[in-house]
Amino acid sequence: MKKIILTGDRPTGKLHLGHYVGSLKRRVELQNSGEYDDIFIMIADAQALTDNFDNPDKIRDNIIEVALDYLSAGLDPSKVHIFIQSQLTALTELTFYYMNLVTVSRLERNPTVKAEIQMRNFETSIPAGFFTYPVSQTSDITAFKATTVPVGEDQLPMLEQAREIVRKFNSLYGETLVEPEALIPKNSVCSRLPGTDGKAKMSKSLGNCIYLSDSAEDVKKKVMSMYTDPNHIQISDPGQVEGNAVFTYLDAFCTDADFEKFCPEYKNLDEMKDHYRRGGLGDVKVKKLLINVLNQELDPIRARRAELEKDIPAVYQILKDGTDAAIKAANATLAEVKAAMRINYFEDEELISSQQARFNNK
Ligand code: TRP
Repeated sequence: MKKIILTGDRPTGKLHLGHYVGSLKRRVELQNSGEYDDIFIMIADAQALTDNFDNPDKIRDNIIEVALDYLSAGLDPSKVHIFIQSQLTALTELTFYYMNLVTVSRLERNPTVKAEIQMRNFETSIPAGFFTYPVSQTSDITAFKATTVPVGEDQLPMLEQAREIVRKFNSLYGETLVEPEALIPKNSVCSRLPGTDGKAKMSKSLGNCIYLSDSAEDVKKKVMSMYTDPNHIQISDPGQVEGNAVFTYLDAFCTDADFEKFCPEYKNLDEMKDHYRRGGLGDVKVKKLLINVLNQELDPIRARRAELEKDIPAVYQILKDGTDAAIKAANATLAEVKAAMRINYFEDEELISSQQARFNNK
């Protein structure tokens, strides 16, 4: 069986370091592993509209931001298809048929959707489109016969829903769809990078993000004002590493080689942590290391972005080419789905003749 990846992001804002360590960096590795027959990366504008339908320009303007973030982070359009979800009519068609295979109570049990409903104050009236987006996400995945879906842990309920729909479809209509597997981040630091304020997650509405497109100067400012250990007041005070966002970021980004380069008095992060815990190591020094490590990672990304920004029509052409390839793949699956569901009237050459025979024999 072919190994195929499908994954994507809602274009509701620029991508930040949480996206980068949680998924983007991994995608570039998967792209370069040569292990996959096809890789589709989707800008999920239709899904983003399910809770932003009143603000379509926000989605429209962020498509290019996400595309620039993808390309500057190293996704290579000669190896992956980057495409825009809404341009694939096959996805909405599949969604309509998959709706038959789920119950409202099953959708109500989805913990991610439950949490999102609460967050958006949708409790009293949930838009049906938002409520059913896990079904649409099943279409995204199955349309490409994806075997592998690299996502954060919060997306596991979506994958479970997709697998259930696939099993139900195949048992009702015959083996047609492929059951996907989730691929989640290797370590827990990467699956949930806290905000610069120490809160659980980077989120645009909390203003606690470092964006891939931030300048070196912005990164410096944001790191210098980062949350550390509120009880570590004097340099000589013992400090806490757990829950200290600066150390969490170092866990996610820094390597032993970085110490040699930027902070040779320690061999590795463990040594630095020990000193911090004992007391005698100030926040500024740790923050300076983090600034160096982050800017080292972001410099090449920023340089690529600056080049790409000079030719926006070329970026749209990449999206157009990726979308064309995705349309082809999704339409092929839709044709199989319609045949399995017995709704391929004009493609089935035997239908008319066999029915003629039936009427002749009456
Ligand atoms: N729901 C995903 C997110 O919010 C985005 C997404 C849409 C997705 N369709 C997908 C991810 C299909 C993986 C597969 O991040």
